[in-house]
Amino acid sequence: MKGKHLIEPGDFSIEELDDLFSLAEKIMENPSAFTEVCRGKILATLFFEPSTRTRLSFEAAMLRLGGSTLGFAEPNASSTAKGESLADTIRTVAAYSDIIAMRNPKEGAALLASQYSEKPIINAGDGGHHHPTQTLTDLLTIRTIKGTTSGLTIGLCGDLKFGRTVHSLAKAMARYPGNRFVLISPPELEIPDYIINRVFKPAGVSFSRVQQMEEVLGDLDILYMTRVQKERFFNEQDYIRLKDSYILTLDKLRLAKKDLCVLHPLPRVNEIAPEVDSDPRAAYFLQVQFGMFVRMALIARVLGYEGGKK
Ligand code: CP
Repeated sequence: MKGKHLIEPGDFSIEELDDLFSLAEKIMENPSAFTEVCRGKILATLFFEPSTRTRLSFEAAMLRLGGSTLGFAEPNASSTAKGESLADTIRTVAAYSDIIAMRNPKEGAALLASQYSEKPIINAGDGGHHHPTQTLTDLLTIRTIKGTTSGLTIGLCGDLKFGRTVHSLAKAMARYPGNRFVLISPPELEIPDYIINRVFKPAGVSFSRVQQMEEVLGDLDILYMTRVQKERFFNEQDYIRLKDSYILTLDKLRLAKKDLCVLHPLPRVNEIAPEVDSDPRAAYFLQVQFGMFVRMALIARVLGYEGGKK
């Protein structure tokens, strides 16, 4: 994995993913054994869009590995505000750092950045396209709670059109055998056709579409809730009409299996009532914790750390 870019979930093989999860598990068991792994290395975080979890977990991950960080949390604090191109920004930051995590509102921005950088580019979200490190987080959470990433019935609920975490998770989970998807959304927020035609159908993945969460809750092993992505709507009236399409409550959870795993990439707005947080099936804050450890594993491997291999 040394020197590799991570732009979308298919960039790493299943074997590489297994190695990352296994390293993340080792880090969780004994974090103090990894405090020197990235000593002298610098992570740049270039965030052209807001973030709490992704940026701070990347920075915490690098600091816990003994490395340092630099970057910006919003583009107006950089020369982007003066009209500098992304290509020039990346060429510049690559001269100062060893690895770059970038979030950008434009789909394809991370791929473009990778074409101008000799240092590894990690896509921390490109518009409504992909968010592969959220997927690493999601897969590690599923693997830990369910003991497998195969043979699961996965409900994806909410904004399946603009939700980049959904696109990345669908692409990643379609690679494991026996997974089945239930796509729960209003017609206006259906998953993009390319996921159906270029991901599910070629892999022979079974899927169904419904509009009512209650119809399918009892069938699911995983329920992946998502926020309606206000920032991607062209029309505020449409956002207001759709934003509360799904609200998971304890009352609805009575329809679900006892071992359902409820995930959410966060931030949430209204789509999961706070009363659900104390239900043992709610795993979204555990997901947050796993995010930092899997990013530690990713940074370490991409920067050439070879320890902890089977
Ligand atoms: N899940 C996620 O990407 O959260 P942030 O937008 O806070 O980084």
